[in-house]
Amino acid sequence: MQERKIILTGDRPTGRLHLGHYVGSLKNRVKMQNEGNYEKMYVMIADSQALTDNFDNPEKIRENLIEVALDYLSIGIDPEKVTIFVQSQVEELTELTFYFLNLVTLSRLERNPTVKTEIKQKNFETSLPAGFLIYPISQAADILLFDANLIPVGVDQEPMLEQAREIARSFNNIYGEIFTEPYAILPENEQARRMPGIDGKAKMSKSLGNAIYLADDKATVKKKVMSMYTDPDHINIDDPGKIDGNIVFTYLDVFSKQEHFEKYLPDYKNLDQLKDHYRRGGLGDVKVKKFLIKVLEEELEPIREKRAYYEQNLDQVLAVLEEGTADAREIGRAKLQEVKRAMGIDYFADSRFLDVIKEKYN
Ligand code: TRP
Repeated sequence: MQERKIILTGDRPTGRLHLGHYVGSLKNRVKMQNEGNYEKMYVMIADSQALTDNFDNPEKIRENLIEVALDYLSIGIDPEKVTIFVQSQVEELTELTFYFLNLVTLSRLERNPTVKTEIKQKNFETSLPAGFLIYPISQAADILLFDANLIPVGVDQEPMLEQAREIARSFNNIYGEIFTEPYAILPENEQARRMPGIDGKAKMSKSLGNAIYLADDKATVKKKVMSMYTDPDHINIDDPGKIDGNIVFTYLDVFSKQEHFEKYLPDYKNLDQLKDHYRRGGLGDVKVKKFLIKVLEEELEPIREKRAYYEQNLDQVLAVLEEGTADAREIGRAKLQEVKRAMGIDYFADSRFLDVIKEKYN
């Protein structure tokens, strides 16, 4: 139905962003932003959604709002091209959520596999806050209020998009065609999506304490890489080593480029040669790790520099959020008007509202 490409994505501000976020989605956002193949692109800081499981810790959300904004700006999300906005400050989102609630049953909400997993993780099984259960409905509003149809997210967000499509369809059937069905844009590289943590666990995450943050300084990155999980059986340099499950090589798979070898490890032509040597034996972990540090620094140093600039210009960061939010509100307000007109609850804006009633009484 809709040919215009409207891209929207978002993050919960519950912590600083790390390399897992970076390779899994942030890098791709910057790429999309620069390709310019869209009519409008939004990046939303989902603070209201973050509160659904952090309602008792608002300080955390308040603090991380700026951290996430700093991360966005430092990786190159450009407020000239992208509308960066704050969810809670677009009241229309909350209002739309309320109308959408009517279109979804409790049992449908309870079937959402991502929410189910989260309920277990968060120990919500015995006392589930209603707000948490319904966050997929609010997420549908995030997307549909802005007519967004392309949503770059990880696979775990697929159920949210399915829910959003159902709501769009249901609304359109009942009140008239005004919403477009959105679709996920999933990351191409499966490995990048599940960036392992430095401890070798399957996923880099703040809660597991195994993340390298975009804001980590050089010494911290060095320390983390040096402590990285490799091959526990590779004890002496001469022992043959395993590549599979060896996180240092997983990171090199994702980050190293041909030119890094020429620059930092000219004895090897490419990653395959390095891996071969490791498998054969005779190549020590420390050498590979030192190489990885250099490779990561090429990516992280420019980010760090930009971050340092914005950390010294926080007023500018807040202004970016404020302007982006004003832009989003204006668009959201117009769409909500349309929604209310479709639902027949735009009484004061509808000059013919009294006509039917008048006829009844005349
Ligand atoms: N649920 C998403 C996450 O946890 C964040 C989010 C909220 C989002 N609203 C969104 C993502 C709308 C895409 C579109 O990462």
